[in-house]
Amino acid sequence: AQLHSLALDAGLLYFGTTVDNGYTSDAPYMAIVNDVDEFGQLVPENAQKWDATEATQNTFTYTKADVIPDLAATNGQILRCHALTWYSQLPSWVSSGGFTAAQLQSVIEAHISNVVGHFKGDCYAWDVVNEAAADDGTWRSSVFYETMGTDFLAVSFNAAHEADPSAKLYYNDYNLEYNGAKTDKAVEIVKIIQDAGAPIDGVGFQGHLIVGSTPSRSSLVTALKRFTALGVEVAYTELDIRHASIPASDSAKTTQANDYTNVVGSCLDVEGCVGITVWGFTDRYNWVPATFSGAGEACIYDEGLNKKPAWTSISSLL
Ligand code: XIL
Repeated sequence: AQLHSLALDAGLLYFGTTVDNGYTSDAPYMAIVNDVDEFGQLVPENAQKWDATEATQNTFTYTKADVIPDLAATNGQILRCHALTWYSQLPSWVSSGGFTAAQLQSVIEAHISNVVGHFKGDCYAWDVVNEAAADDGTWRSSVFYETMGTDFLAVSFNAAHEADPSAKLYYNDYNLEYNGAKTDKAVEIVKIIQDAGAPIDGVGFQGHLIVGSTPSRSSLVTALKRFTALGVEVAYTELDIRHASIPASDSAKTTQANDYTNVVGSCLDVEGCVGITVWGFTDRYNWVPATFSGAGEACIYDEGLNKKPAWTSISSLL
């Protein structure tokens, strides 16, 4: 059996993957994407981001953004939507700033109302605010934080709720898995949103992890439960576990397989952990080598689209 159908049997809502528009002409790759027993959920890797949807103020374009959502609809796959208020992949008319707080609030509200409105009813969840915390547990510097303080959080969640009341609204970030200062900050972020009376439904653990340095299953459970204790659901939204140097040895591949089962197992252990999304399922197409110098082979399929030990270990766990 394949990962999504096994995940359903194990009580999760989905096992899914990201797909970018540029990959859709690769037929053998797409055969796996279109196998709903393997991936029951999709998320666009880049095409819904601000620089893709509103490159020019108040001019919204969805030709690219619609591609993966349309595919998910055709296949009957759950759609996660990604991402709204984020410091990265912002068009320069936003990132260069020069707005008053009130002006930037209007800019955020116009963006979210249009983009979330366009996909209304289609998204299981939206990553509403992405990566607002820094690794050391301080606020990440961004045009949003520098201009509005923490007000951009509730403003974003309120706008998303207004545009699509049925979508689950997530705060999404990486390195929450280590349960350190950054995790504390994410807890604070959820509380700030809740205290403002704004709707937040979930926290996404991106899960960009490193082979051999992935926390244990029980440590991950502890970190996830800090958020479910606040009344929100959790999910792994961008899972990949990279080798710090490649090519990986057989023993490193075994460690990677074990690390993947720690992550998947932790989700199974936490009531309120709804699903797992890998950020690319094959080493053929993966953001890691371009981002983390020397690292790679982070996925559960190799470049030749063969299942790796990580795939096998996840399937036996599920
Ligand atoms: C990455 C994509 O995978 C790349 O293709 C792109 O060049 C940069 O963004 N956290 C996120 C994702 O929330 O949107 C990022 O995706 C990876 C880190």
